Amino acid sequence: MRTPIIAGNWKMNKTVAEARELVAEMIPFLKDVQGVKTVFCPPAPSLLPIAAMLEGTDIDLGAQNMHWESGGAYTGELAPAMVSEFGEFVILGHSERRAYFGETDETVNKKIRAAQANGLTPIVCVGETLEENKANKTSEVVSRQIKAGLADVSAALVIAYEPIWAIGTGLAATAEIANDTIKTIRAVLAELFGEEDAQKIRILYGGSVKGSNAAEYFSQSDIDGALVGGAALKADDFVKIIYVARAEVMKSNA
Ligand code: PGA
Repeated sequence: MRTPIIAGNWKMNKTVAEARELVAEMIPFLKDVQGVKTVFCPPAPSLLPIAAMLEGTDIDLGAQNMHWESGGAYTGELAPAMVSEFGEFVILGHSERRAYFGETDETVNKKIRAAQANGLTPIVCVGETLEENKANKTSEVVSRQIKAGLADVSAALVIAYEPIWAIGTGLAATAEIANDTIKTIRAVLAELFGEEDAQKIRILYGGSVKGSNAAEYFSQSDIDGALVGGAALKADDFVKIIYVARAEVMKSNA
């Protein structure tokens, strides 16, 4: 059984004061949830204050990006050890980073290696554009991203399949289609790491997941949770997504 992960990607939203307020609202509902891993990925300035708030809970923390170098003259960047001081996870290769900040499969690969070397679990994002989707290129694109991004890394990672056209648009991929693509991703992971390890890797879906559609995704065979953007900024909706995931876990354990 793969423990589902629900990770909130807050993107460039929330000051520290606002972040504290949001987390304080959610902690009472999430601190004792069993069978689902909750991860908050706030902007970097909030990592320290939120880490303090999460002490004594099972909720984990992650960054949204980092550099692969261990330090030096890289103005504006975060080193892996700066993230691992507070967090357990780091989102890498998000489509917004690939589109606006020039990230490539090659730089994502360097970042994954650096994350693993620093004891962080990377949440590696892959996904196709609308044009690629329409041209039936989804499998080809995600396979390429996985093979190039994951060269010479270990299986200690999480994948997030996020069709780019479904991010922040309200146009979620249907659960069945997302599950099929995730099966393709798992087959590529099996080529890289062997079947046994591939079965252990959590593969999340991301793109317009909210409380009202979460059950469709979490009831699928190969979807092991979600990377949530917009709905992670609303306490009640994010809590609902985690409760839906927990209900699906309880159903499959029954
Ligand atoms: P969304 O974002 O839930 O707002 O679509 C998901 C993401 O980009 O990780």
